[in-house]
Amino acid sequence: MVNLEVKTSVNSYPIYVDENIRHQTKHFLPKKYSVIHIVTDKRVADLYLDDLKESLEGHPHVFHSIIEEGEKSKCVADFEYLHTRSIQFGLDRESLVIALGGGVVGDLAGFVAATYMRGIDYIQVPTTILAHDSSVGGKVAINHALGKNLIGSFYPPEAVIYDVQTLQTLPAKEVRSGYAEIVKEALIADKGLFDNIMQTKLSQVTNDTLKDHIFRGIKIKTHFVQADEKEKGIRAHLNFGHTLGHALEAKYGYGELAHGEAVAIGMLFAMEVSNTIYSKNLPVELLYKWLKDNGFPLLIKEINIDSLFNQMKLDKKVVNNQIQLVLLKDIGNPVTLELSDEDLQNYLETFINKMTKI
Ligand SMILES: NC(=O)c1ccc[n+]([C@@H]2O[C@H](COP(=O)([O-])OP(=O)(O)OC[C@H]3O[C@@H](n4cnc5c(N)ncnc54)[C@H](O)[C@@H]3O)[C@@H](O)[C@H]2O)c1
Ligand SMILES: [Zn+2]
Repeated sequence: MVNLEVKTSVNSYPIYVDENIRHQTKHFLPKKYSVIHIVTDKRVADLYLDDLKESLEGHPHVFHSIIEEGEKSKCVADFEYLHTRSIQFGLDRESLVIALGGGVVGDLAGFVAATYMRGIDYIQVPTTILAHDSSVGGKVAINHALGKNLIGSFYPPEAVIYDVQTLQTLPAKEVRSGYAEIVKEALIADKGLFDNIMQTKLSQVTNDTLKDHIFRGIKIKTHFVQADEKEKGIRAHLNFGHTLGHALEAKYGYGELAHGEAVAIGMLFAMEVSNTIYSKNLPVELLYKWLKDNGFPLLIKEINIDSLFNQMKLDKKVVNNQIQLVLLKDIGNPVTLELSDEDLQNYLETFINKMTKI
């Protein structure tokens, strides 16, 4: 097993990563809890809820709630529903919420824990690759009808218990989406990891490789989060690939293009702009080929520059109406640069022209 300790301003929590550790959850609980409320979604419940409940056998008060799969569950109605269930199950200030699932369950259950009786403990048991990102760092949130993640908090978990065996049942699209975030972490901080991933075929990824890549990704995320918990400075480097990524997601996503798939295109763009601005030779073609070989949809040909540009300007990371783009001076050396509208439009045009020729 690999593990590490994350220090925050309010607590310090361990992250455990290994095969089949969902069967030993009881041993990872940091203290005795009066009542345990497991929150999961339908799909994950069918696959892993029984395992988790069995691993807590002997505890007298274990309950669970199952929400619908997907982003639509990160809403006020489900937030209220889980509070109602917590009250009905008799959770008190000494109780625990366990989030069993991907980022949707983690963000929602984490926000429920953050607000129930002004905050009770919760533990993340991530079951997607993307959740290596969402389960670490303490950002919890639900969506408002007018925007994503607008209602939330910074509220770190008491532990993260990551069983890589559960990732073997993920659909290929979710594997791709999660891996894009590991590629992002590698690009901003760890060239060795980047090179290693470029040698990996996602359809044949083993538990050992997953363990290694996820652990290294978490370490990078943790480094940035610990240095800048409330995202006032370098934590923003974790948004590498996300300015264009979010715009693509808004235009083509929610069903068609998964978050990480959109970020992958955003990373190609940010690398291309970095090469131009800093006269570098970052491996855009290598990444493009790896993405293509692993089935990432690279919708470059369908992209409409004007509508994408307008969408990018709506991003919540826009400061003083100027887009802040995270670029690379090298692999492992990210910087944030403010770009004028004119430059950004030109870069987008050049990028799309180049990509359609590869
Ligand atoms: N808090 C943060 O810092 C942070 C960071 C990144 C993303 N997020 C949030 O994370 C969410 C996306 O997370 P996600 O991609 O994990 O989505 P998700 O939780 O919706 O999971 C994706 C799908 O995979 C299914 N699934 C989960 N585990 C499975 C398994 N082991 N086998 C088979 N199917 C499984 C789920 O039922 C779901 O249908 C978004 O809401 C995003 O805003 C938060
Ligand atoms: Zn992301």
